[in-house]
Amino acid sequence: MRRPLVIGNWKMNGSRQDNKSLLEELVFLKPTNIQTELVICAPFLYIEQVSRHLVEQQISFGAQDMSVHLNGAYTGEISASMLIDLGCRYVIVGHSERRQYHGESNLLVAQKTLASLQAGLIPIICVGETLEQRESAGTLDVIADQLAAVKTVVGDSGISRSVIAYEPVWAIGTGLSATPDQAQDVHRFIRGQLGATGGNVRLLYGGSVKSDNAAGLFEQPDIDGALVGGASLVAREFIKIALAAA
Ligand code: PGA
Repeated sequence: MRRPLVIGNWKMNGSRQDNKSLLEELVFLKPTNIQTELVICAPFLYIEQVSRHLVEQQISFGAQDMSVHLNGAYTGEISASMLIDLGCRYVIVGHSERRQYHGESNLLVAQKTLASLQAGLIPIICVGETLEQRESAGTLDVIADQLAAVKTVVGDSGISRSVIAYEPVWAIGTGLSATPDQAQDVHRFIRGQLGATGGNVRLLYGGSVKSDNAAGLFEQPDIDGALVGGASLVAREFIKIALAAA
């Protein structure tokens, strides 16, 4: 069966001191042998600090993005093999903030997915529609296109080794979470698009997940966990969400 998965996306937040407090509290609050798999995706600079705190704590970690290139003259970029070198297990690809502010196309996201898989990372592939697209009844078409681009490049076997996060852009950081029914409708659609191995792929919901709306989302048959932004910066909230998924 699909193990519940809750991933914290710290985004561009933190400092060495704040991270230390947050990580210590997380380790303290996390029940031993919690059924939910927990992951922290920190800014690149802090991944090593995160790894020091989380080693042997049954919490994995990863990055929020990576380069599509293997290595070489790409100033400012971070490669998948560097992430592996630091002990990362996961990497977020195609977050809507990357698509929106850094012009990442469906094709680039697909190529990053391939590069991450080839390096041995588990990609967390983000898909989702804007408010405008939802209001013009374009949600499923947008998501079908985002998924199709990845599937074309990595195939069914690549998809089967990935995690997919449905994050409606209008719900991210706005406090306006999708309702459990709205989320489930899209998750069911996504699973239907994944092909033969889709039943094993973990599908996460993301967008204003908090401890007080998590349980309703996790009750849905095709929602296997969450990608959590703001609430992952508060240890107690993050652990409550993880417990709701267990
Ligand atoms: P949020 O962010 O939980 O702050 O809405 C989710 C995300 O962007 O992954």
